[in-house]
Amino acid sequence: MKNNLSNIKKAVKCLNKNHCIAIPTETVYGLAANAYSSIATDRIFRLKKRPKKNPLIVHYLNLKLLKKDCEINDIFLKLYKKYSPGPISYVLKLKKTSLISKNVTNKRNTIAVRFPSHSLTRNLLKRLNYPLAAPSANISTKISPVSKKDVKDEFGKKVRIILDGGQSKIGVESTIINLVGKPQVLRLGGIPQEQIKKYLNAKIKYNEKSKIKSPGQDKIHYSPHIRLRLNIKNANNNEAFILIKKRKKISKNYFYLSKNNNLQEAAKNLYKTLRFIKKKNFKSIAVEKIPSKGFGEVINDRLKRASNFR
Ligand code: TXA
Ligand code: MG
Repeated sequence: MKNNLSNIKKAVKCLNKNHCIAIPTETVYGLAANAYSSIATDRIFRLKKRPKKNPLIVHYLNLKLLKKDCEINDIFLKLYKKYSPGPISYVLKLKKTSLISKNVTNKRNTIAVRFPSHSLTRNLLKRLNYPLAAPSANISTKISPVSKKDVKDEFGKKVRIILDGGQSKIGVESTIINLVGKPQVLRLGGIPQEQIKKYLNAKIKYNEKSKIKSPGQDKIHYSPHIRLRLNIKNANNNEAFILIKKRKKISKNYFYLSKNNNLQEAAKNLYKTLRFIKKKNFKSIAVEKIPSKGFGEVINDRLKRASNFR
């Protein structure tokens, strides 16, 4: 990997001038900017064509820095000890004294925060005196990027610095859990909700109909902007067919998410495969039925939203 110190130093300079850069994380690549600056965060919304009402996730190096901006509680500390740094975001109360730009929270009194584990991004955070607001580095409603090349596909020359951290290990966004009031999962993601439920021994299940929502959760999303059909037994000949289980006969329109029927590996390969199919110019995608357990649940969530594209 070509990420020597000089690249990180260039990234720091660029961020200090209120520009956006792309950063690798274990979940997906992020489009990052100084979370304390309205100029910098405004640029994120414009580049992504993201509606202002959809708040951003803020990335911190450690707990000490987070405490400057957020109120914490016991459940947060319990989860933090087990899962952070890693693919989980927490919604917490914003402190009145916080320096976070109003753009980030859309003037809410809550904020979504996380501690990425990718070493390159942690190295970058160590050199900054502000946290990074970073949504996924894709144009709004499209597929999240999982490599440097994917980010280039999305933004071309508009994003000048993309730190190369290889392919994202998890490959889907972080799980978001609301910790203001009763804990509840607001977005399925990189840590299966069953695991969190067992660990906390509490009802935290994601519920599409619940009153508390992540504003970014209810539209078309994660979409290659191609028609996508779910739970299909046999695809049409000219259609890309996404599969988990091996079949005896293999056609050239078949795309496997995993070599050995492993749902975590399938989640890691999901966005990469959708992007590849789009590049191959398929006009329609069929997906076989995927079991809704563990990482299968997050795969189905993303595919269902993608299938809302008509
Ligand atoms: O894995 C990830 O979380 C990636 C990487 C780059 O860290 N980031 C990411 O950001 O997925 P984004 O902006 O694509 O998704 C952020 C989600 C949105 O659905 C947004 O509505 C929700 O977080 N969110 C942000 N602040 C919130 C808040 N105060 N309350 C509830 N949901 C919030
Ligand atoms: Mg996103």
